[in-house]
Amino acid sequence: MKILVTGGAGFIGSNLCQGLIDHGYDIVALDNLNDYYDIELKYSRLALLGIEKEEIADGVIVQSHRYDRLRFVKIDLADREALQSLFREEKFDKVCSLAAQAGVRYSIDNPYAYVESNLVGFVNLLECVRHYPVSHFVFASSSSVYGMDTHVPFSEEDKTDKPVSLYAATKKADELMAHVYAHLYGIPTTGLRYFTVYGPWGRPDMAPSLFVKAIDEGRPIKVFNQGNLSRDFTYIDDIVEATIRAIDYTRDKDHVFDIYNVGCGHPVPLMDFIHIIEENMGKKAQLEMYPMQAGDVYQTYADSSKFEQTFGFRPSVTLSEGIAHFVDWYKTYNCREE
Ligand SMILES: NC(=O)c1ccc[n+]([C@@H]2O[C@H](COP(=O)([O-])OP(=O)(O)OC[C@H]3O[C@@H](n4cnc5c(N)ncnc54)[C@H](O)[C@@H]3O)[C@@H](O)[C@H]2O)c1
Repeated sequence: MKILVTGGAGFIGSNLCQGLIDHGYDIVALDNLNDYYDIELKYSRLALLGIEKEEIADGVIVQSHRYDRLRFVKIDLADREALQSLFREEKFDKVCSLAAQAGVRYSIDNPYAYVESNLVGFVNLLECVRHYPVSHFVFASSSSVYGMDTHVPFSEEDKTDKPVSLYAATKKADELMAHVYAHLYGIPTTGLRYFTVYGPWGRPDMAPSLFVKAIDEGRPIKVFNQGNLSRDFTYIDDIVEATIRAIDYTRDKDHVFDIYNVGCGHPVPLMDFIHIIEENMGKKAQLEMYPMQAGDVYQTYADSSKFEQTFGFRPSVTLSEGIAHFVDWYKTYNCREE
């Protein structure tokens, strides 16, 4: 079974590739290796998968030195021709689409990065699965599509037509466009709304990494909305397990498209989150209070019962367990870098 994983050098993508290898998939991981955050972290994730930085070049398929079943290719989804020729040559059985311009705050100053990757790139991918059919197209959406929804926990039945960031709007657009392609061309499609994913190899632009790094270096951390925010933090291993279950699933011909929340279901107030990190670091945080940020939402809280009913799995790693693993990884990774 051959699968394309887009965003394969990313946080979730690289962890997913590891999981898929253990499940016996033949994988092509694709990424444009953009510099939205430290590119060395992306190279380090790839090195762990046996992909050597020196061998990476535009459009060249690189064989993993560690796993026979894994290859990597550097392609930008916005490069329509390169993407089409990859699909023509590889004839994928499945696609898992994780590549995206992520981040809510970055979209305020960099709107076109979202248009290029999340809209143009995503349509290019849909066109490829239309012309080179696959048995399942799985894609990452986001809890951000719920915007300022106050009805908690967030259910897939809730309205998602009032996003409050361009990132959220592009993720919602992806859901709508994927629905169109599933409907018109009968492409079995599953959308996964991930809720604040964290863990080893996590994104440096997200709160767990920002806070751990600042506490470690003795710098203050920025606390928005006076700490009156809560997030449904979901551990990376749970996200990988959920995504593999979705990929493995066979959709009925009369139910080719659906969307699911994937979240832990335990929203944690920001101040409690900071205390858990302090305990694991053995060090107090210095706090700098700021007002609410543009584009941010007050809370996220997943009702993942629909996912559990369909796929027989529910995220279960607690924030205390997950942060302990994350802090261990952070210390190891940063020692290795020095
Ligand atoms: N991490 C989270 O908390 C979270 C929450 C909700 C949804 N998501 C979604 O999950 C997916 C993966 O997120 P992540 O946290 O691993 O982010 P990430 O930024 O670590 O990974 C995304 C990868 O996609 C690549 N990429 C971006 N644009 C591309 C393009 N045009 N062509 C090819 N590659 C491109 C990037 O280089 C990056 O390596 C994204 O779609 C994101 O929107 C993540």
